[in-house]
Amino acid sequence: MNQDQLKQLVGRAALDYVPAGQILGVGTGSTVDCFIDALAAEIAKGAIAIPGTVSSSERSTQRLIKHGIKVLDASEVTGLAVYIDGADEIDGRGYMVKGGGAALTREKIVADLAGKFVCIADESKLVQTLGAFPLPVEIIPMAAAQLTRRFAKIGGTASLRAGVVTDNGGHILDVRGLSITDPLGFEAEVNQWPGVVTVGVFARHKASVCLLGGAGGVKTLTF
Ligand code: A5P
Repeated sequence: MNQDQLKQLVGRAALDYVPAGQILGVGTGSTVDCFIDALAAEIAKGAIAIPGTVSSSERSTQRLIKHGIKVLDASEVTGLAVYIDGADEIDGRGYMVKGGGAALTREKIVADLAGKFVCIADESKLVQTLGAFPLPVEIIPMAAAQLTRRFAKIGGTASLRAGVVTDNGGHILDVRGLSITDPLGFEAEVNQWPGVVTVGVFARHKASVCLLGGAGGVKTLTF
């Protein structure tokens, strides 16, 4: 199976986690695109019924609406049972790096509303230590140079993602060369640097479950 087929496989597997009759949190990315398509097919068949979704990006919102699936504003809900999203990296404890698609801030907001984070990923995303994937950090544009110097002090090489403006009007720094052995401590520290909107380490909002697609099928990891 190639990577696209694995994404479709875990996208379909995530249907088992859609809470019947409840609003669902929906992430962003190519794996989530597969999930949205699979969800739409089930809704069309009448096999799943949900009152709507809360989306983590304009990209996912457009796809959901195209399929006729209702999208609610995050401010319209007080909580979600489940949030389904992909990851750029996930470790054996359910800690993740996210933001390859620049949607990390809204992803963390929607994840924060949810009781359960279901991560869907192909097995290439499973790592021992976070940091090989360049860490996305959403920032306020005027802080770019200052934050680049701060990352350099902890061994990271930050570069501005060219031509990218997030759904919130922020910019993205991608930070290479980090080895994030203490995801909770790292997230807490970097989050309070002035100019940082959101760091792409999801430690406080880690996965509860990961559906990992590989040659042997879907493995379910629980954390
Ligand atoms: C979006 O900003 C990201 O956090 C994605 O969830 C992550 O990059 C995974 O994307 P893919 O499913 O496209 O690999």
